[in-house]
Amino acid sequence: MVKTERFIPQAIEEIKKAAGTGKVVVALSGGVDSSVCAALAAQALGDRLIPIYIDTGLMRKGETERIKTVFSGIRLQVVDAGDEFLAALVGITDPEKKRKAIGERFIRVFEREAKKSGATCLLQGTIYPDRIESEGGIKSHHNVGGMPLEMAFTKVIEPIRDLYKDEVREVAGALGLPLEIQHRMPFPGPGLAVRILGEVTKEKVAVIREANWIAESEIVEQYRPWQCFAALIGLGTGVKGDNRIHGWIVAIRAVNSRDGMTADPLEIPFADLTRIGARITAEIPSVARVVYDITPKPPATIEYE
Ligand code: XMP
Repeated sequence: MVKTERFIPQAIEEIKKAAGTGKVVVALSGGVDSSVCAALAAQALGDRLIPIYIDTGLMRKGETERIKTVFSGIRLQVVDAGDEFLAALVGITDPEKKRKAIGERFIRVFEREAKKSGATCLLQGTIYPDRIESEGGIKSHHNVGGMPLEMAFTKVIEPIRDLYKDEVREVAGALGLPLEIQHRMPFPGPGLAVRILGEVTKEKVAVIREANWIAESEIVEQYRPWQCFAALIGLGTGVKGDNRIHGWIVAIRAVNSRDGMTADPLEIPFADLTRIGARITAEIPSVARVVYDITPKPPATIEYE
């Protein structure tokens, strides 16, 4: 466990040193990692901190509104870049290429916004597992291996780069962040894009956003998993009314884990699973089939891509 009483002042000092007298953009997603970074940076930089939330169009239902409410006390800039991210993903089916396209878009939008305020540094919530996975060639996190090589920022500051998720939560507690943020389930930077196998389209995003909303609302409160979500994993035949349809297959994943490096599927009673399946197929007409993923990590990863 990280010694929070030592870590917090050290991180604040590091941010002050790295920023010098300049302004710093902090990439806020509303998750625990970026919120901890923003809180540390606010103490280090005061008014020289420019917190920006990018609505990628790949966020969960209600997420942007939630973030506006949670961070209503700070001057959060909300950038609607949904069309831009979708356009960058057209024709891309490879997960690595998706992450890189998204990583590049994030940086370009931050650069654009930074230019308006004269900020030269970017501060982001990269944590230790993001780095080992990117450096080990497992997958390019949007905020590490997925970042473009050429950037307008003179410096990227990553104050929590050596922490695991559970340590970040501990720091969040010590910083007095709201419980809702401290215990928030991880949500990947590339968002719903890595929960759609193959090409990302507006229609698929709309389907998986709704399925994910149903899955979370049925599972989170009741089972308190480390992470749970729905993913769109393909097309299959179904029967709705009198018609055979070619409809989406949605997978539900719910896992417990300590740090995301390994994970175990949650044992959800069959009656609850069938209710979730029935809700998803009834409420989303284009979904034909719902499956529950029983695979631990390893061999499966938590996300589908
Ligand atoms: P996997 O799928 O690798 O996921 O078992 C482990 C944890 O990491 C999250 N994840 C990501 N987070 N950018 C992120 O910020 C990504 O590209 C990414 N891919 C996976 C995943 O949600 C899980 O919590």
